[in-house]
Amino acid sequence: MDLKQSINKNNIPQHVAIIMDGNGRWAKQQGEDRIFGHHEGVNSVREIVEACGEIGVKYLTLYAFSTENWNRPKDEVDALMELLVATISMETPNLNKKGVKLQAIGDIKSLPVSCQQELQDSIDITANNNTVTLILALSYSSKWEITNSVKEIAKQVEEGKLKASDITSKHIEKHLNTNIFPDPELMIRTSGEHRISNFLLWQLAYAEFYFTDTLWPDFRKDDFFKAILSYQNRERRFGKTSDQISKN
Ligand code: IPE
Ligand code: IPE
Ligand code: MG
Repeated sequence: MDLKQSINKNNIPQHVAIIMDGNGRWAKQQGEDRIFGHHEGVNSVREIVEACGEIGVKYLTLYAFSTENWNRPKDEVDALMELLVATISMETPNLNKKGVKLQAIGDIKSLPVSCQQELQDSIDITANNNTVTLILALSYSSKWEITNSVKEIAKQVEEGKLKASDITSKHIEKHLNTNIFPDPELMIRTSGEHRISNFLLWQLAYAEFYFTDTLWPDFRKDDFFKAILSYQNRERRFGKTSDQISKN
Protein backbone atom coordinates (compact mmCIF):
# COMPACT_ATOMS: atom_id res chain seq x y z
CA MET A 1 0.00 0.00 0.00
CA ASP A 2 1.27 3.45 -0.86
CA LEU A 3 1.06 5.25 2.48
CA LYS A 4 1.46 8.70 0.97
CA GLN A 5 -1.49 8.15 -1.39
CA SER A 6 -3.68 7.16 1.56
CA ILE A 7 -3.22 10.51 3.28
CA ASN A 8 -6.22 12.85 3.25
CA LYS A 9 -4.92 16.09 1.75
CA ASN A 10 -7.71 18.03 3.48
CA ASN A 11 -6.61 17.08 6.98
CA ILE A 12 -2.87 17.69 7.08
CA PRO A 13 -1.53 19.02 10.40
CA GLN A 14 -0.13 22.49 9.91
CA HIS A 15 2.60 21.92 12.48
CA VAL A 16 4.33 18.67 13.49
CA ALA A 17 6.81 18.53 16.38
CA ILE A 18 9.26 15.65 16.76
CA ILE A 19 11.38 14.41 19.65
CA MET A 20 14.15 12.77 17.63
CA ASP A 21 15.25 10.08 20.09
CA GLY A 22 17.31 6.89 19.94
CA ASN A 23 20.50 7.90 18.12
CA GLY A 24 22.73 6.49 20.86
CA ARG A 25 20.92 3.15 21.08
CA TRP A 26 20.91 2.84 17.28
CA ALA A 27 24.68 3.31 17.18
CA LYS A 28 25.22 0.82 20.00
CA GLN A 29 23.21 -1.78 18.07
CA GLN A 30 25.67 -1.32 15.19
CA GLY A 31 28.63 -1.66 17.56
CA GLU A 32 29.47 2.00 16.98
CA ASP A 33 30.06 5.10 19.09
CA ARG A 34 26.97 7.17 20.09
CA ILE A 35 28.24 10.04 17.91
CA PHE A 36 27.87 7.82 14.84
CA GLY A 37 24.16 7.64 15.62
CA HIS A 38 23.87 11.43 15.73
CA HIS A 39 25.54 11.65 12.30
CA GLU A 40 23.13 9.08 10.88
CA GLY A 41 20.22 10.98 12.38
CA VAL A 42 20.90 13.83 9.96
CA ASN A 43 19.69 11.63 7.06
CA SER A 44 16.37 11.19 8.81
CA VAL A 45 16.08 14.95 9.28
CA ARG A 46 16.62 15.47 5.54
CA GLU A 47 13.96 12.88 4.66
CA ILE A 48 11.34 14.21 7.07
CA VAL A 49 11.80 17.82 5.96
CA GLU A 50 11.28 16.61 2.40
CA ALA A 51 8.22 14.56 3.41
CA CYS A 52 6.68 17.68 5.00
CA GLY A 53 7.13 19.54 1.73
CA GLU A 54 5.53 16.68 -0.22
CA ILE A 55 2.31 16.52 1.82
CA GLY A 56 2.01 20.19 2.80
CA VAL A 57 3.01 20.31 6.49
CA LYS A 58 3.92 23.98 6.90
CA TYR A 59 5.86 23.88 10.20
CA LEU A 60 8.20 21.20 11.51
CA THR A 61 9.79 21.61 14.95
CA LEU A 62 12.66 19.24 15.72
CA TYR A 63 13.96 18.78 19.26
CA ALA A 64 17.68 18.65 18.54
CA PHE A 65 19.26 19.53 21.90
CA SER A 66 17.62 20.04 25.27
CA THR A 67 18.76 22.17 28.19
CA GLU A 68 19.28 18.88 30.04
CA ASN A 69 21.49 17.52 27.25
CA TRP A 70 24.27 19.89 28.45
CA ASN A 71 24.72 17.35 31.27
CA ARG A 72 25.94 14.66 28.86
CA PRO A 73 29.67 13.77 28.72
CA LYS A 74 31.69 16.69 27.32
CA ASP A 75 32.88 14.62 24.31
CA GLU A 76 29.32 14.00 23.22
CA VAL A 77 28.22 17.61 23.74
CA ASP A 78 31.24 18.88 21.76
CA ALA A 79 30.59 16.40 18.95
CA LEU A 80 26.91 17.40 18.80
CA MET A 81 27.82 21.09 18.56
CA GLU A 82 30.34 20.38 15.80
CA LEU A 83 27.79 18.27 13.96
CA LEU A 84 25.30 21.08 14.23
CA VAL A 85 27.62 23.63 12.64
CA ALA A 86 28.73 21.22 9.91
CA THR A 87 25.18 20.15 9.12
CA ILE A 88 23.73 23.63 9.01
CA SER A 89 26.43 24.95 6.69
CA MET A 90 26.29 21.87 4.47
CA GLU A 91 22.50 21.70 4.26
CA THR A 92 21.71 25.38 3.73
CA PRO A 93 21.90 25.26 -0.10
CA ASN A 94 19.67 22.20 -0.07
CA LEU A 95 17.15 23.90 2.25
CA ASN A 96 17.15 26.91 -0.02
CA LYS A 97 16.60 24.80 -3.12
CA LYS A 98 13.56 23.19 -1.48
CA GLY A 99 12.16 26.51 -0.26
CA VAL A 100 12.66 25.65 3.42
CA LYS A 101 12.87 28.50 5.90
CA LEU A 102 15.05 27.85 8.97
CA GLN A 103 14.15 29.14 12.43
CA ALA A 104 15.39 28.30 15.94
CA ILE A 105 13.94 28.29 19.45
CA GLY A 106 15.78 27.90 22.75
CA ASP A 107 18.60 29.55 24.63
CA ILE A 108 20.58 30.21 21.44
CA LYS A 109 23.09 32.45 23.26
CA SER A 110 24.25 29.42 25.26
CA LEU A 111 25.50 27.70 22.09
CA PRO A 112 29.14 28.03 20.98
CA VAL A 113 29.66 31.23 18.95
CA SER A 114 30.44 29.24 15.77
CA CYS A 115 27.03 27.51 16.05
CA GLN A 116 25.25 30.80 16.61
CA GLN A 117 26.90 32.26 13.52
CA GLU A 118 26.14 29.31 11.23
CA LEU A 119 22.60 29.28 12.49
CA GLN A 120 22.08 33.01 11.97
CA ASP A 121 23.62 32.84 8.47
CA SER A 122 21.31 30.04 7.47
CA ILE A 123 18.28 31.79 9.02
CA ASP A 124 19.13 34.92 7.00
CA ILE A 125 19.78 33.03 3.74
CA THR A 126 16.51 31.10 3.95
CA ALA A 127 14.40 33.96 5.35
CA ASN A 128 12.24 34.45 2.24
CA ASN A 129 11.43 30.78 1.65
CA ASN A 130 7.91 29.58 2.25
CA THR A 131 7.31 25.88 1.61
CA VAL A 132 8.19 24.48 5.06
CA THR A 133 9.38 26.35 8.16
CA LEU A 134 11.92 24.14 9.93
CA ILE A 135 12.23 25.13 13.58
CA LEU A 136 15.21 23.70 15.45
CA ALA A 137 14.82 23.49 19.23
CA LEU A 138 18.37 24.04 20.45
CA SER A 139 19.39 24.30 24.07
CA TYR A 140 15.64 24.35 24.53
CA SER A 141 13.49 23.44 27.47
CA SER A 142 9.91 24.35 28.02
CA LYS A 143 10.33 25.24 31.70
CA TRP A 144 13.12 27.65 30.70
CA GLU A 145 10.86 29.21 28.06
CA ILE A 146 7.81 29.54 30.31
CA THR A 147 9.92 30.96 33.16
CA ASN A 148 11.24 33.64 30.81
CA SER A 149 7.75 34.49 29.69
CA VAL A 150 6.62 34.88 33.30
CA LYS A 151 9.62 37.16 34.01
CA GLU A 152 8.70 39.40 31.06
CA ILE A 153 5.12 39.68 32.24
CA ALA A 154 6.21 40.36 35.84
CA LYS A 155 8.44 43.18 34.54
CA GLN A 156 5.48 44.80 32.78
CA VAL A 157 3.42 44.54 35.96
CA GLU A 158 6.30 46.00 37.98
CA GLU A 159 6.54 48.92 35.54
CA GLY A 160 2.82 49.54 35.85
CA LYS A 161 2.17 48.68 32.16
CA LEU A 162 -0.04 45.72 32.91
CA LYS A 163 -2.44 44.84 35.74
CA ALA A 164 -2.00 41.36 37.23
CA SER A 165 -5.77 40.84 36.97
CA ASP A 166 -5.60 41.51 33.19
CA ILE A 167 -3.13 38.68 32.48
CA THR A 168 -4.50 36.06 30.10
CA SER A 169 -2.99 33.02 28.37
CA LYS A 170 -2.36 35.32 25.38
CA HIS A 171 0.21 37.25 27.44
CA ILE A 172 2.06 34.04 28.28
CA GLU A 173 2.00 32.93 24.62
CA LYS A 174 3.23 36.28 23.40
CA HIS A 175 6.50 35.87 25.31
CA LEU A 176 7.18 32.27 24.31
CA ASN A 177 9.85 31.66 21.63
CA THR A 178 7.14 30.07 19.53
CA ASN A 179 4.80 33.06 19.50
CA ILE A 180 4.92 33.42 15.71
CA PHE A 181 4.10 29.77 15.03
CA PRO A 182 0.79 27.92 15.38
CA ASP A 183 0.69 25.19 18.06
CA PRO A 184 1.59 21.70 16.80
CA GLU A 185 -1.39 19.45 16.15
CA LEU A 186 0.83 16.35 16.21
CA MET A 187 3.85 15.39 18.33
CA ILE A 188 5.93 12.35 17.39
CA ARG A 189 8.52 10.69 19.62
CA THR A 190 10.74 7.92 18.31
CA SER A 191 12.64 5.18 20.19
CA GLY A 192 9.86 3.80 22.38
CA GLU A 193 10.10 6.38 25.17
CA HIS A 194 6.72 7.66 26.29
CA ARG A 195 7.59 11.01 27.80
CA ILE A 196 7.74 14.65 26.82
CA SER A 197 11.21 15.54 28.25
CA ASN A 198 10.56 19.26 28.79
CA PHE A 199 9.45 19.85 25.18
CA LEU A 200 6.75 22.43 24.27
CA LEU A 201 4.71 21.77 27.43
CA TRP A 202 2.43 24.74 26.80
CA GLN A 203 2.16 24.40 23.03
CA LEU A 204 1.31 20.68 23.08
CA ALA A 205 -1.66 21.19 25.41
CA TYR A 206 -4.07 19.77 22.80
CA ALA A 207 -1.70 18.01 20.41
CA GLU A 208 -2.14 14.39 19.39
CA PHE A 209 0.80 12.21 20.49
CA TYR A 210 2.31 9.46 18.36
CA PHE A 211 4.93 7.11 19.75
CA THR A 212 6.95 4.62 17.74
CA ASP A 213 9.65 2.14 18.74
CA THR A 214 11.63 3.03 15.60
CA LEU A 215 14.92 4.67 16.50
CA TRP A 216 15.47 8.11 14.96
CA PRO A 217 18.21 7.09 12.46
CA ASP A 218 15.79 4.47 11.05
CA PHE A 219 12.84 6.88 10.85
CA ARG A 220 11.97 7.43 7.18
CA LYS A 221 9.24 9.03 5.07
CA ASP A 222 6.89 6.04 5.39
CA ASP A 223 7.23 6.11 9.19
CA PHE A 224 6.28 9.79 9.07
CA PHE A 225 3.32 9.11 6.76
CA LYS A 226 2.16 6.38 9.20
CA ALA A 227 2.14 8.97 11.98
CA ILE A 228 0.12 11.36 9.80
CA LEU A 229 -2.40 8.60 9.00
CA SER A 230 -2.72 7.80 12.71
CA TYR A 231 -3.38 11.49 13.37
CA GLN A 232 -6.06 11.53 10.68
CA ASN A 233 -7.87 8.63 12.34
CA ARG A 234 -8.34 10.45 15.62
CA GLU A 235 -11.25 12.52 16.79
CA ARG A 236 -10.04 15.79 18.28
CA ARG A 237 -12.71 16.80 20.73
CA PHE A 238 -11.20 19.75 22.61
CA GLY A 239 -13.35 18.98 25.64
CA LYS A 240 -16.59 18.58 23.68
CA THR A 241 -18.54 15.36 23.21
CA SER A 242 -18.19 13.10 20.21
CA ASP A 243 -21.76 13.95 19.14
CA GLN A 244 -21.00 17.65 19.11
CA ILE A 245 -17.95 17.06 16.92
CA SER A 246 -19.68 14.82 14.38
CA LYS A 247 -22.56 17.32 13.93
CA ASN A 248 -20.12 19.99 12.73
C1 IPE B 1 18.55 11.79 20.53
O1 IPE B 1 19.19 10.56 20.67
C2 IPE B 1 19.50 12.91 20.20
C3 IPE B 1 19.76 13.86 21.29
C4 IPE B 1 19.16 13.84 22.46
C5 IPE B 1 20.75 14.87 21.02
P1 IPE B 1 19.87 10.15 22.03
O2 IPE B 1 21.29 10.62 22.01
O3 IPE B 1 19.08 10.58 23.19
O4 IPE B 1 19.86 8.56 21.92
P2 IPE B 1 19.49 7.53 23.05
O5 IPE B 1 18.16 7.92 23.60
O6 IPE B 1 20.57 7.61 24.09
O7 IPE B 1 19.46 6.20 22.35
C1 IPE C 1 15.09 14.50 24.42
O1 IPE C 1 15.82 13.31 24.33
C2 IPE C 1 15.85 15.61 23.84
C3 IPE C 1 16.13 15.53 22.40
C4 IPE C 1 15.66 14.65 21.57
C5 IPE C 1 16.95 16.60 21.90
P1 IPE C 1 16.63 12.75 25.57
O2 IPE C 1 17.19 11.44 25.14
O3 IPE C 1 17.59 13.74 26.06
O4 IPE C 1 15.47 12.56 26.64
P2 IPE C 1 15.43 11.78 28.03
O5 IPE C 1 16.44 12.41 28.91
O6 IPE C 1 15.74 10.35 27.74
O7 IPE C 1 14.04 11.97 28.50
MG1 MG D 1 17.54 9.77 24.24
